Amino acid sequence: MKTILIFDSGVGGLSVYQEIYRQMPQHQYIYAFDDAAFPYGELEEPVLIERVLHIVTSLSNQHAVDLVVIACNTASTIVLPHLRASLTQPVVGVVPAIKPAAQMSQTKVVGVLATPATVKRQYTQSLIAEFATDCEVHLLGATRLVEMAEMKLRGHRVDLNEMAEIVNPWLSTQIDTVVLGCTHFPLLKQEISQVFPQARFLIDSGSAIASRVQALLGTELDIEVTELEQGGIKNLTYHTSDKSDHQALNDSLRAMQLSNVNCLHYPRS
Ligand code: DGL
Repeated sequence: MKTILIFDSGVGGLSVYQEIYRQMPQHQYIYAFDDAAFPYGELEEPVLIERVLHIVTSLSNQHAVDLVVIACNTASTIVLPHLRASLTQPVVGVVPAIKPAAQMSQTKVVGVLATPATVKRQYTQSLIAEFATDCEVHLLGATRLVEMAEMKLRGHRVDLNEMAEIVNPWLSTQIDTVVLGCTHFPLLKQEISQVFPQARFLIDSGSAIASRVQALLGTELDIEVTELEQGGIKNLTYHTSDKSDHQALNDSLRAMQLSNVNCLHYPRS
């Protein structure tokens, strides 16, 4: 059994965790999210880099982590080189799935739905320039959608009218393929399909990340019980804020074989 650390600003990385866990339930997972600084899509780059480095290196050392997944597009597009320079473990990141989307699109008009930071990043522009030259690409940065995914995992209903307003600028386009370029958005796949049915394909990077993790770890199937097991759940959840009302979120976490949230005490800088 290996220990895999999965990191995001909030619940979005759970969409990636679910894909990895589905393929490799035998490993131990640590899910950590930096809700003290949420949303990352609105954060200054140097602050984001410093926080991710600090939280991920501390947890990796504390738990003898074998592999790290930065399950956040907003962080991955700037923080991966820094992390790889300071960790000995392999680090897998997630970036918008622009290449498969450009291949999949029949109208050759693609939408990229991400955070305001990701749509502005040079990394995203380079992916478009390299892999989507034959497509018209429309970028939309929406923090409100990220917040909606957070609410959904806490048991609230998603306001479809509000969501329809957000994608309204795309209604007059020929978009048939949407890149879910933020890990929060696969958690809203059903709702996005409802308000934007012209998108025949909604593409995220979850299963590609899971395959990458599997390739890096090998396919060993040695199932052990660890001393960290908590009430039958060996997978741990950490967060950074001091908010205390987690009951609804804990229900969602337990349904995914993760422990209730534990506090890391790393304040907003
Ligand atoms: N889930 C994250 C991403 O993939 C970050 C969302 C946010 O905190 O703004 O971009």
